Amino acid sequence: MYKTILITGGAGYIGSHTSYLLNQLGYKIIIIDKFVHNQNFNQPWAKLIKADIADQNILNQVFAENKIHAIMHFAAFIEVGESVKKPKEFYENNVSKTLNLLNTMLIFGINKFIFSSSCAIYGNPTNIPIDENHQFAPISPYGKNKLCVEFILQDYAKTYDLKYVSLRYFNAAGALPKYNLGEQHDPETHIIPLMLRAIKNNDVFKIFGSDYKTNDGTCIRDYIHVLDIAQAHILALKYIEERNQSNSFNLGSEKGYSVKEMIQEAENICNKKMNSKIYDRRPGDVDVLIADSTKIKTILGWKPKYSDLKFILKSAWKWECKNIFPMKKSASLKNLKTMYN
Ligand code: UFG
Repeated sequence: MYKTILITGGAGYIGSHTSYLLNQLGYKIIIIDKFVHNQNFNQPWAKLIKADIADQNILNQVFAENKIHAIMHFAAFIEVGESVKKPKEFYENNVSKTLNLLNTMLIFGINKFIFSSSCAIYGNPTNIPIDENHQFAPISPYGKNKLCVEFILQDYAKTYDLKYVSLRYFNAAGALPKYNLGEQHDPETHIIPLMLRAIKNNDVFKIFGSDYKTNDGTCIRDYIHVLDIAQAHILALKYIEERNQSNSFNLGSEKGYSVKEMIQEAENICNKKMNSKIYDRRPGDVDVLIADSTKIKTILGWKPKYSDLKFILKSAWKWECKNIFPMKKSASLKNLKTMYN
């Protein structure tokens, strides 16, 4: 019998690509998502519950009526700068609701949990590339939220019947245009969609800061294709199933690109110049983030297949050209399978 995975935030960017891959592998999927980004829903294979994970009645009902094998927990507020302005909302949404989800799953005897953590837990790195032994020094409420949950998971796993894997993502990027999946945030804050839209619509792309401690003064990030992140979730699940252990892993391509280098690469892929302008630094940004992903490669056997920057940008460009976001309500959105409302 096919196993059922509950994906919180499964209508979001990384959740939807992971849902696609799980479906390809024959898993049954239930998604709980409250559509904070007003995104379109393009997953006819999944059972969708449009709700907040804080809705206790929904959680009880889902856990009582379905044999949930594992939970992949993506639902969270994700924008670092916003977290500085709204710490209360971020702690409530990203920590309290996760704690409640964990407590409820344990009551129902569900004990496998895969958590979307972030390299933001490391703060301003003292050495590059960053491995899992780097000190935790988050500088934003967002990074602190993710670290809080990691600490909760560690303590719970010691005492209760819980096995977890935390995946500390670096910068998720790219798309799966063939299956109508890609980055759709409203408002959009991420570099790649904003750069590509600037090219497409002849808008100005804002470079946030040119006085960072990097060769060209702009921030350096490690971009990893969202399908490689999805693949890591599958391996994490296998790890829990086969070894019955818990662990935390960095997840990045191990290559860094500055904002200016990204502009250059995007112009090459799109064969068009971009208008860009230097602005002030954005709160919460650090100079350089590059992963050391040795641990996940060694222990889980993870091998990134799609994280070459040109491939990332090509897939994202195809997605941007195919879609106008925010999108009009499409046939698939009208056909949303809502179980409980
Ligand atoms: N940037 C610009 N102009 C823009 C948008 C971004 O210059 O219009 C720059 C940022 O300053 C940063 C880089 O591009 O230096 C990447 O910014 P993103 O907003 O795309 O990504 P972040 O690194 O800020 O954050 C993302 C996720 C977080 C996660 C983090 C881990 O949103 O959830 O990656 O690095 F924690």
